[in-house]
Amino acid sequence: MNLLGIETACDDTSAAVVKDGHTILSNVIWDQQRVHEKYRGVVPELAARKHTEVITYVIESALKEANLSYEDIDGIGVNSMRGLLRSVVVGVAAAKVIAYTQNIPIIGLHHIEGHIYSVILDHPDIEFPFLCLTVSGGHNMLILVLGHGQYKLLGMTLDDAAGEAFDKVAKFLDIGFPGGPVIDKLAKTGNPKAFDFPRPMLKKNNDDFSFSGLKTSVLTTVKDLQKQKIDIPVPDIVASFQQAVVDVLVKKTIRAAMREGIRTIAVVGGVSANSQLRHAFVNVTAEKNIKLYFPPLALCMDNAAMIASLAYYKLKNGESSSLSLDACSNTPFGVTMNT
Ligand code: KG4
Ligand code: ZN
Repeated sequence: MNLLGIETACDDTSAAVVKDGHTILSNVIWDQQRVHEKYRGVVPELAARKHTEVITYVIESALKEANLSYEDIDGIGVNSMRGLLRSVVVGVAAAKVIAYTQNIPIIGLHHIEGHIYSVILDHPDIEFPFLCLTVSGGHNMLILVLGHGQYKLLGMTLDDAAGEAFDKVAKFLDIGFPGGPVIDKLAKTGNPKAFDFPRPMLKKNNDDFSFSGLKTSVLTTVKDLQKQKIDIPVPDIVASFQQAVVDVLVKKTIRAAMREGIRTIAVVGGVSANSQLRHAFVNVTAEKNIKLYFPPLALCMDNAAMIASLAYYKLKNGESSSLSLDACSNTPFGVTMNT
């Protein structure tokens, strides 16, 4: 079964063809970084316009790379439930046109559920139940994955997601966009113990996160140093900030896993590419004899292969959407997983 995935949640225009849920035949990503970097953040209006401009080219490139034509596609999965609304609309509209003209099934999917499938795609043998930390620019959740399409949401961020905090700190320090990879690299040259930033929500007896206060603490520290006319030790600042984020994500995930008696953890989403986060998870899970899964780096960021993999399981299960499928910007995870 060759499924076409389409993903346009934020600033990546992506189309992919995945065979039988696990074999990636193509995964084309048009990264809009150049469009947004001069604004040091994603401009929703420009993102939607770029998606509109390149979506056909990206889909046709995905088919070409897979050595297939539209007639060879058995169904389409599209993120229709989460992201910048006008960006999501572009992907949904394109998917509907193809489904209609080719007379093939379409399914609207949740972006965050797609991220979970970035690890299932690559590890078909992963055993349920597992605990999944989704950590990205737009979302930060702890989800118990009980089986295909079966979830229990344990906790989520109450304000900024971790990736958003990375992006905002980098923007404030004017060190580049997107902030995550820039900080990851720069932090390697800094001292993670130089500044004692707060570890938000660590003492709270729940599975929620909050990174807005940590970001503010970094900003306040920098402003204080500026007032005192002290040169800003940027590598130390970002290394200490990153360490605080990593401590919270790792400790809260491990605590939830131990409490729930879960022996398998997956970490997905853009921030799962972070080298310090990976290192910390590898160490602690080895110590506690917990199995650990990350998606390959190419599948950490938003991509359509994860959407096509998820579509395979949904369509195989008899689920599909109608051609009146709508685009939504913020469907709560687990509430309406299908339309
Ligand atoms: O999953 P994704 O592509 O989009 C969303 O669903 O939000 O994740 C993008 C986020 C951005 O906030 C970016 O700064 C962050 O992932 N990110 C990283 C790294 N690479 C990307 N954060 C920390 N370290 C990285 N190496
Ligand atoms: Zn994402």
